[in-house]
Amino acid sequence: MIAAVGVKKSYPGRPVLRGVDLTVRDGETLAVIGGSGCGKSTLLKCVIGLVRPDAGAITVDGTDITRLTREIEVAQYRRRFGYLFQEAALFDSLSVWENVTFGLRYLTNIPSARYRAIARDKLALVGLKDVEDMKPAELSGGMKKRVALARAIAAEPAYILYDEPTTGLDPIMSDIISDLILDLQKALKTTAIVVTHDMKSAYKVASRIAMIHEGRVLAADRPEAIRASQDPYVHQFVEGLSQGPIQMKLKEFEPEVGR
Ligand SMILES: Nc1ncnc2c1ncn2[C@@H]1O[C@H](COP(=O)(O)OP(=O)(O)OP(=O)(O)O)[C@@H](O)[C@H]1O
Ligand SMILES: [Mg+2]
Repeated sequence: MIAAVGVKKSYPGRPVLRGVDLTVRDGETLAVIGGSGCGKSTLLKCVIGLVRPDAGAITVDGTDITRLTREIEVAQYRRRFGYLFQEAALFDSLSVWENVTFGLRYLTNIPSARYRAIARDKLALVGLKDVEDMKPAELSGGMKKRVALARAIAAEPAYILYDEPTTGLDPIMSDIISDLILDLQKALKTTAIVVTHDMKSAYKVASRIAMIHEGRVLAADRPEAIRASQDPYVHQFVEGLSQGPIQMKLKEFEPEVGR
């Protein structure tokens, strides 16, 4: 289980998370939605310990990452996670199969002779074939995303953090990736957080959806309840409406953004 309590994080001159409370139960897939720049990626980075919150606690199976200081403890903590970075973050100089299996030597005792075959299997799961020996520069944006996804699941982790898994993919591939997230959750009992703007995917994969607004969790509920929400902020966001309370807020911030 992942439990975030009162998580706060500011970057210089910019408060981002202002007290996030969230629980992700074992076996659950929580979708996190919210406007661009509201702190979704920051929250995932806090969970895995890449960003240290200014306040609050994030506990995973009883271990509070915000209290770990020794490198070895942080490494052990991170072993439980697969992480799909929003920007794919592949190593340019490594081939696709080396990218996919990069973490295995740190995370598992699997003999390296098996890495190529494992990469092939995981790539097939995300709909890629015969790309093992290519370099990231030879791939389209959507292919890079899928290679990064194959890497995130390579060690079959207990927890997977997906940052925008379907962004930049065509609608059919988006749906295939949503199905894959569901399959992993069923087959491996994975517990996952999926950050997404893709409401179709969120409704499909999530057991619950949490919306972040102004640094806090504005609503967290079952997908049907979020879809039917009468809250004007939630309604505007999930329906993708240009008119509503969120636009007024964005206008207030406009001078700051341009500064
Ligand atoms: N390393 C950093 N240093 C300074 N500011 C940062 C840093 N990382 C993020 N920010 C700022 O924090 C805010 C939240 O960023 P974050 O990437 O978490 O948003 P997001 O919700 O993931 O947005 P998007 O939907 O566009 O991916 C933004 O205003 C961003 O400019
Ligand atoms: Mg982001």
